[in-house]
Amino acid sequence: MLLDNHGRTINYLRLGVTDRCNLRCFYCMPEKGIDWLSRKELMSYAELMRVCSLLVKTGIEKIRITGGEPFVRTDIMQFLTALSKLNGVKELAVTTNGVLTAPHIPELKSLGIRNINLSLDTVDRDRFLAITHRDELPAVLDTLEQLLLHNMDVKLNAVVMEGKNLQDIIPLVALTKDMPISVRFIEEMPFNGDGSHYPVLHWDHIKILQTIKKTYPAIQKVADPAYSTSYNYHIPGHKGNVGIIAAYTRSFCGTCNRIRITPQGTLKTCLYDDGVLNIRDMIREGHDDQYLQHSLLNAINKRAKDGWEAEKNRKEKNPVHESMATIGG
Ligand code: 5AD
Ligand code: SF4
Repeated sequence: MLLDNHGRTINYLRLGVTDRCNLRCFYCMPEKGIDWLSRKELMSYAELMRVCSLLVKTGIEKIRITGGEPFVRTDIMQFLTALSKLNGVKELAVTTNGVLTAPHIPELKSLGIRNINLSLDTVDRDRFLAITHRDELPAVLDTLEQLLLHNMDVKLNAVVMEGKNLQDIIPLVALTKDMPISVRFIEEMPFNGDGSHYPVLHWDHIKILQTIKKTYPAIQKVADPAYSTSYNYHIPGHKGNVGIIAAYTRSFCGTCNRIRITPQGTLKTCLYDDGVLNIRDMIREGHDDQYLQHSLLNAINKRAKDGWEAEKNRKEKNPVHESMATIGG
């Protein structure tokens, strides 16, 4: 078992496979996009396989593929196929915006991938366009429908934003009536790719819950799964669940079991740190597995105790101007 310096189990890797994306969600990147990584800066699939294989031997059991948008990277299905065959991976999961995902669902299922997180902040086409700068809601809803037809385990992620999608909170909760999905509301975080606005958190987890309670007073707290980042609820009679993720408030750090590798091969032991190890360069300098493993363990042994400490320790000071797409969600 892999433990950090605060005694927390580390068994979950979030792996960003590209910073590119076919949407421009305003809370993640500016409309013109970001300075995309060149192919050389990006970790190759061979490099990704090498770190995954090493991390799985070191205690990682679950790997979630994120981005950017994973399905815009060439040959992503071949990579997922290879990863699904790696000994020791107990769970492989994917986070996607759903624009290009639908045709891949049967193959994902055949690889044993069942756990899909779909980003969806609104069910209204105009608001979707206003938030993501692309008119792709129909494609995303088609993906949602196909995922359910294939009995996939679906979580919808919605970032709650003052002035953008407050009208959607109740319609998104309403989806849980007939759909066996978990709809999760996320506090907005400062990773919007330009640093020009560190958002004031108008909508924290408490306010989100109060709003849902006004329409659904019978909503009940349910047990949170181990290592859960969401507070989970259920409305009697509904097929699905509701979750609220205090991503800005950072109240879940005490049980945080995850590390991240960004598309450019940087290890982050907290979402709010600015990178603690350059894995890509170590690989390219020709170091052996033992050296890599030692360096990874060393970084995991110096983890900040929570997201506030990690943010304070950033080498590059505020404003944070990373895009979520270069972090890996
Ligand atoms: N704040 C909160 N959540 C964000 N995401 C992307 N950027 C932000 C942000 N600034 C979410 C997306 C996606 C998940 C990986 O991260 O909605 O579902
Ligand atoms: Fe793309 Fe996800 Fe960022 Fe939206 S939040 S622009 S879907 S990477």
